[in-house]
Amino acid sequence: MTTTPAAGRTLEGLAPEIEAAGQGHLLAFVNELSPGEKASFEAALLAIDWDALPGIIERYREPAHAEDPGDLLPPVVGCVMGTAGDCAIDGPSAFAKGMDLIRSGKVAALTVAGGQGTRLGFDGPKGTLPIAPVSGRTLFEVFADQIAAASAWAGRPLPWLIMTSPQNHAQTLAFFVGRNWLGLESGQVRFFQQGVMPSFCPRTGRLLLAGKGSLATNPDGHGGVVRALVRSGELERLEREGVEHLSYFQVDNPLVPPLDPVFLGAHAGAGGAPSSGEFSSKMVAKVSPDEKVGVFVQSGGRTRVVEYSDLPEPLAHARDENGRLRFEAGSVAIHAASVAFLRTIDRAGEGALPFHRAIKKVPYLDTEMGRHVEPEAPNAVKLERFVFDAIPVARRSLVLRVARAREFAPTKNATGVDSVESARRMQHERAVAWLEERKLPVHEGSMVELSGAAAWADAAGLAYTPEALPRAGTDVVL
Ligand code: UD1
Repeated sequence: MTTTPAAGRTLEGLAPEIEAAGQGHLLAFVNELSPGEKASFEAALLAIDWDALPGIIERYREPAHAEDPGDLLPPVVGCVMGTAGDCAIDGPSAFAKGMDLIRSGKVAALTVAGGQGTRLGFDGPKGTLPIAPVSGRTLFEVFADQIAAASAWAGRPLPWLIMTSPQNHAQTLAFFVGRNWLGLESGQVRFFQQGVMPSFCPRTGRLLLAGKGSLATNPDGHGGVVRALVRSGELERLEREGVEHLSYFQVDNPLVPPLDPVFLGAHAGAGGAPSSGEFSSKMVAKVSPDEKVGVFVQSGGRTRVVEYSDLPEPLAHARDENGRLRFEAGSVAIHAASVAFLRTIDRAGEGALPFHRAIKKVPYLDTEMGRHVEPEAPNAVKLERFVFDAIPVARRSLVLRVARAREFAPTKNATGVDSVESARRMQHERAVAWLEERKLPVHEGSMVELSGAAAWADAAGLAYTPEALPRAGTDVVL
C-alpha cells in the first residue's frame, strides 16, 4: 500500500486527498510540529496511496469469513525418489539443474528479517541472536558461512538479499558493518527495507496517530517483500544481473540450507517435478495437530497455505485411515521464487496478495481530546501480507517434502518448544547424523556443529574433511 513518495509534493498539496479519504483528523496538530517533525510526517503521509485506502479500510473493517472446511483438501506433495512417500521427482536431475543454476549465478539468497527477537526475550534483530551450539555464531553468521562456501565453489559472490524493517534496519546494518560483512564481500549483501501499514480503528475507519506528527503503523508482513524488492530497485537489479530465482527463507531457522540444489532444480522443473518454476515451497510432516505451522491445502484446484490460526480445529485434528494427520503438510516457510513471477505479482497490483487482518491493542493520540490513550482492549486493525499467498497465483506450485531433522529448527520462543534451546539441540543432532552417515566417531557428551563449509558440501554433494573430529569431552565445529 505504501508507494514511493512523489517528488516535489507537499503536505499542504496532499491535504485535500487526505480529507477526501475521510482522514482529515490526522492533520489536527500539523501547525504545532517543528520543521523536522513536519518533514518526517510529510514523508510518511506521502507514502500512502490515498486513493486505495478507503477501499482497503472498508474491506478489512470486519473479520474475514472463516475457512469453509468443506472446501479444503490435502495438497499434492512432491518428493525426491529414494526418500519416504509417494515419490516421483528424479533427485539427480533436479540436483544437476540446481547446481547449474547456482554455478552460473542465476540464484540469489533472500532472507526475510523484518521481525525483532521480542518473543525470544532478545533485544535486537533476530538475525543477531547467537544460535550455533558450539561456536555461538549468530543466525546471520550461520547463513553467511554457507553462502560464502557456495560462492567460493561457484567462483562468484552469490548475492544475499536481506529484508529489514524500519524498526531494525539500522541495527542490522550496524551488525554487518561491525563484523566486517561476516566474511562476505560488502557488495554481496544487499539490504532493502519493507514498508509499513497504518493501523486503523475498525469502528470509525480512521487511521490512528501515534503522536502529533506520526502515524501508528506496523511492518507490512513478509508479503511486503515483493513491493519492497521493486521499490528498492533490487528486483530490477536482479533482472539486469540475469538472476532468475530467489532462494527464500526466514531468519529464524538455523537449519535451513540457504542454497539447496535439489530444491532449486526441482523448482525449475527438472527431474519431472510438478512445477511451473514460479513459486515453490518445502514442507515437513507436522508433529502434532496444534504445531504452530501453516499447512498446505488444495482448494479450487490450487495449492495454498492456511495459517495455523485459521485452520478449522476439526481439520487440524482429522486423520486418514493410517492414522496420519490428513493435513500434515506443514510449511517451513522455505520457498523458491522466480524473479519473473515476482514481477508479475507486483504488476497485478494491490489485489495480488491480500491482507491478513489482526486486531491489536495500539496506543494512540486522541485527536479530539488531545491526549494519549493506552487501550485496555484491542482497538485497532493491523494489516499484513503473507508471502505464501503467492502460491495459488503460480500456474503449478511445487510443494516438496523434506526431512525436518535436516532443515527445520524454528526459533520462536525463549524456552521449550521451538526455542533457542531446541534449535541448538537440533543443530547438534544434525551434525551427529552427518558424522554417522560418514561412519566417523561420535562421542557422548561432546557437542558438535556443522561449519558453513561442511553444510554447503553436504548440500552440494562435495567431498569435505573436517579439521578436527570429536574427542571425548571436547566440543567441535566440523
Ligand atoms: C511463520 C509462518 C508459518 C510457518 C512458520 C515456520 C507466517 C504468517 N507464518 O510463522 O506459516 O509455518 O513461520 O516457522 O509467516 N517477517 C518480516 N516482516 C514482517 C513479518 C515477519 O520480515 O513484517 C519475518 C520475520 O523476521 C521472520 C518471518 O518473517 O523471519 C516469520 O515471521 P513470524 O511472525 O515469526 O511468523 P510465525 O508466526 O513464526
